[in-house]
Amino acid sequence: NTGRFTYDPGFTSTAACESKITYIDGDQGILLYRGYPIDQLAEKSNFLEVAYLLLNGDLPSKPDHDEFTHLITRHTMIHEQLAQFYRGFRRDAHPMAIMCGIVGAMAAFYHDSTDIHDPQQRVIASHRIIAKMPTLAAMAYKYSIGQPFLYPDNSLSFAGNFLRMTFGVPAEPYVIDPVVEDAMEKLLILQADHEQNASTSTVRLAGSSGANPFACISAGIACLWGPAHGGANEAALNMLREIGTPDRIPEFIARAKNKDDPFRLMGFGHRVYKNYDPRAKVMSKVAKDILDKLGRSDPIFDVARELEHIALNDPYFIDKKLYPNVDFYSGVVMSAIGFPTSMFTVLFAISRAVGWIAQWTEMMEDPEQKIGRPRQLYTGPTQRDFVPLNARG
Ligand code: SDX
Repeated sequence: NTGRFTYDPGFTSTAACESKITYIDGDQGILLYRGYPIDQLAEKSNFLEVAYLLLNGDLPSKPDHDEFTHLITRHTMIHEQLAQFYRGFRRDAHPMAIMCGIVGAMAAFYHDSTDIHDPQQRVIASHRIIAKMPTLAAMAYKYSIGQPFLYPDNSLSFAGNFLRMTFGVPAEPYVIDPVVEDAMEKLLILQADHEQNASTSTVRLAGSSGANPFACISAGIACLWGPAHGGANEAALNMLREIGTPDRIPEFIARAKNKDDPFRLMGFGHRVYKNYDPRAKVMSKVAKDILDKLGRSDPIFDVARELEHIALNDPYFIDKKLYPNVDFYSGVVMSAIGFPTSMFTVLFAISRAVGWIAQWTEMMEDPEQKIGRPRQLYTGPTQRDFVPLNARG
């Protein structure tokens, strides 16, 4: 009882949403996309097939797979005037700042896919977003380094097209390394959906108001950018680089355990996983594979593995059930492919756009859907009368 106001002490703030898309068991470290274990999909599938699965609920037949691939591929180009938007940004703008703006701006161009009540327009918007995210992301990178944009090449895979638009130049052919392409596919699969995480909840909440899909995805990109969420991959690699050598790990472990120090081990801990994030297990293997196959060593990967070993044997992390999450090793993979840290969360957004769209579609197809309105527990002052300025002392 807070004076004149009372609130229902039985009120629970755990407003849950119902979904058939992704299942997580945080205690067991289990992650299923429409019932399929994430490690099997990462090992055996490809990103567009996983996108079809998340959107439609089942793995596609061969004809469905080919048709879906064609539908997505034919949307990879962007409106020429949308490309002009990039010239308004500073060259040193963070690519996530560009992605927030440019994806939201898609609503200013694709007027034939903003009517959320038209199922066909929802599908076209979904395909446009999934298809254009890599093109827009590659353009953000090219713009930051002063190189010309490359148009998509629809004869390539989803991952291959993105790699070529990002690292290719008009002056010479770009040869896609199958090792890099495979690592890129796995990276995209592992980050595609994750139940009701912060950015997916943001997309659902924006969508529940009837906002157009481009605006909703732009809101999701903004939320993902935070270092406690998708921005952790950039922060984790920067942390590993700051540690630099294994002998400095104890200093950072001590800081992470010090309650008076706001520092946290980036890429460690999770709102739901109180066991090893199954994506981190696969990501660690992808990191080792790509470095081995490219014949490279990366001291950062060695630091990451030593840090993981020390933390997982430290009572503080054991007691608090803190394990590596998806962001701990993903930076090593993206760095090995050649991306700067500023592009890490952009890649996460390319992948998670599929999950956001699947979750948004599931919500829009629910006839009972109402606008979201998170509840609050009021803890402010009870009612009081206004006091004029000259009477306030
Ligand atoms: C993602 O939700 C999702 O599914 C997100 C995501 C997805 O795919 O969408 O999985 C992607 O965002 C992964 C998380 C990426 N973020 C980071 O790696 C940033 C570092 N991690 C922390 O900021 C933290 O672990 C969070 C934000 C992820 C979770 O924070 P919580 O909910 O506070 O974690 P918790 O309740 O399990 O913490 C228990 C204790 C707390 O201490 P006490 O209050 O009990 O004293 O552990 C501490 C926390 O302070 N703790 C850490 C820590 N993470 C939690 N201490 C040191 N280092 C850490 N990384």
